Amino acid sequence: MTFQNTREFAQQLDAQDQMRKYRDEFIFPKVNDKQVIYFVGNSLGLQPKRTQSYVDEVMNDWANLAVEGHFYAEKPWWDYHERFANPLSKIVGAKPSEITVMNTLTVNLHLMMVSFYRPTAKRYKILCEAKAFPSDQYMIQSQVNFHGLNPKDAIVEIERREGEHNIRLEDVLAKIEEIGDELALVLIGGVNYYTGQVFDMKTITAAGHKVGAYVGWDLAHAAGNIKLELHDWDVDFAAWCSYKYMNSGPGNASGTFVHEKHHTNKDLPRFAGWWGHNKERRFKMEPTFDPVEGANGWQISNLPILTLAPYLASVEMFAEVGMDALIAKRDKITSYLEFILNEISKEVKGTFEIITPTNPIERASQLSVFLHGEGRSLFDYLMKNGVITDWREPNVIRLAPVPMYCSFEDMYEFGQVLKKGIVG
Ligand SMILES: Cc1ncc(COP(=O)(O)O)c(C=O)c1O
Repeated sequence: MTFQNTREFAQQLDAQDQMRKYRDEFIFPKVNDKQVIYFVGNSLGLQPKRTQSYVDEVMNDWANLAVEGHFYAEKPWWDYHERFANPLSKIVGAKPSEITVMNTLTVNLHLMMVSFYRPTAKRYKILCEAKAFPSDQYMIQSQVNFHGLNPKDAIVEIERREGEHNIRLEDVLAKIEEIGDELALVLIGGVNYYTGQVFDMKTITAAGHKVGAYVGWDLAHAAGNIKLELHDWDVDFAAWCSYKYMNSGPGNASGTFVHEKHHTNKDLPRFAGWWGHNKERRFKMEPTFDPVEGANGWQISNLPILTLAPYLASVEMFAEVGMDALIAKRDKITSYLEFILNEISKEVKGTFEIITPTNPIERASQLSVFLHGEGRSLFDYLMKNGVITDWREPNVIRLAPVPMYCSFEDMYEFGQVLKKGIVG
């Protein structure tokens, strides 16, 4: 499709957008009395209007039923988390039994490492990406320390080549081969938080397994953003937060995937709690842990229902829309944003560079833009003029034209504000 950098053209694209009614389902903050252009759904998604009623339902059940709400609430609390299994399994390409919702992302990755990082004298190395999200770096280092190993020796990072912004698949595969039978675990962010690069999870998972390692994925920037086939790719485990693309609200619960091939493996250690115990006998208060068969067997505590309610609202919205429609719009709006950036770049003499891969299969909703010669003042200008983006050192703004609620006209309008911010 040939794009045009005009408001009329952008409005035409909006008129053709099958998902456009969903934009009205979200609450947009305002700057200067105008609805903002929101590019940070990769950090914290907007609040869906329907969320309030899900929270109110729990508040009312609590007021009217108190403890009886565990069993007699509109959506009983004792197994509230099980409502996520069906819709989430479709979003991440899993079987319902492979999905659970609990805790928060870093906590769940720690819990997964308890089960899937079991270093031996020979096989003890972890492969991750250089400049992974800091929480992942701290988590992996602390797990290695916990096992009495030296992070400098046990953690292997895949580097970008000199002068390149993204990691090459061939370099990941070569590193896996090189570490070979010393490799215990591959643990990478499925979509890099800084560049928006999407990794070939199927190929990397197969390569990790070929040398005998477990393979897990941090899907913080992938869940609700890209097509995932976790079961078919044979991924061992994965976890994601729900407050980015999935619009569940600040700091909300994490989804976790454990492949069904591990569900009955009694040799896998895990940290246990009563919510992971046999569902039928949970309240018999038995002394010995008997895990639920499935990802729910990794649950520990009874769940914070008030935080799960907004996540359920959001998951049900994703189920309505479906990942295929979401991805079709995602690709179109991301390409349109790329086009707008390139057009404006010509007009302002190339002061910025998109560092996200140009190949559509290696990117999703995010374009990261390196601002050559422009400083934080440009970012501040955008924010003051109603374009909400985020700033990452040394000089990068990240733009996520989230398909659920961003419009094509937003992209056009953003280009105009950006140009004004650069040329004055
Ligand atoms: C890639 C990645 N991993 C981990 C985290 C940490 O998430 P949490 O604070 O929910 O543990 C984030 C948060 O933004 C992230 O982007």
